Amino acid sequence: MIRLRIHPDAAAAAHDVAAALRSTVVASPACVLGLPTGRTPIPVYAQLVEWVASGALSLDDVTTFNLDEFVGLGPDAQGSFQAFMRHHLFGRVDRRPAPRNFLDGLAPDLDLEAARFERAIDDAGGLDLVVLGLGTNGHIGFNEPAGELPARTHVVSLTDETRVANADGFGGEVPRVPTRAITMGVGTILAAREVILLATGASKADAVAAACEGPLTTQVPASLLQLHPRVTVVLDAAAAARLSRA
Ligand code: GLP
Repeated sequence: MIRLRIHPDAAAAAHDVAAALRSTVVASPACVLGLPTGRTPIPVYAQLVEWVASGALSLDDVTTFNLDEFVGLGPDAQGSFQAFMRHHLFGRVDRRPAPRNFLDGLAPDLDLEAARFERAIDDAGGLDLVVLGLGTNGHIGFNEPAGELPARTHVVSLTDETRVANADGFGGEVPRVPTRAITMGVGTILAAREVILLATGASKADAVAAACEGPLTTQVPASLLQLHPRVTVVLDAAAAARLSRA
């Protein structure tokens, strides 16, 4: 059963998720986090940066795993999620080298890279908390709607809708958005001890309703989160608008 927390606006929803991350880190400074990219978590990261700057929080001992990466992009490429994380979080909070794990979009053998990433998560003791965004088509990480979903980290072909949604990182030029990505699988996400999904804005309202109240289906990958014993969906009012129980 998904727990819902609905806030009046996106800023309050982001603050809620930042506070949940802070509580996890304060309770367990060497915890293992799964982290998302996208526009939605930017204010979450801004809040964490503020807390670290003021001395209220340290991420030094936290191990992080990012959810996904575009195939063909290196860590410094425009649009890469590794560059995004450096810009919005790690470049601002890491005072010394810290365990930041990414999928390598340039790996010559992507299946080996996926297996390496899964092993690294296992070696770290598993994910304590995964924070997710939500695609307008119900994707989580880059697990796109499909007839079948591989459980663990794997390569995916991106839908046109997702490439358009990600064009911002590529100067608005959709043709420059890679056609493939490598992503943590839904099974990897469900194996985390806790999951928080953050969605804000009216464009997410249909996907939120399908994820939280629709049938379990691989055509709405986020609906599979209903299987998790400890999942919280944090929304603003606009993203919650299509929920019947809101
Ligand atoms: C990308 C990421 C997802 C993210 C989604 C939503 O597709 N791979 O992890 O949740 O974008 O992005 P936004 O927050 O910009 O709407």
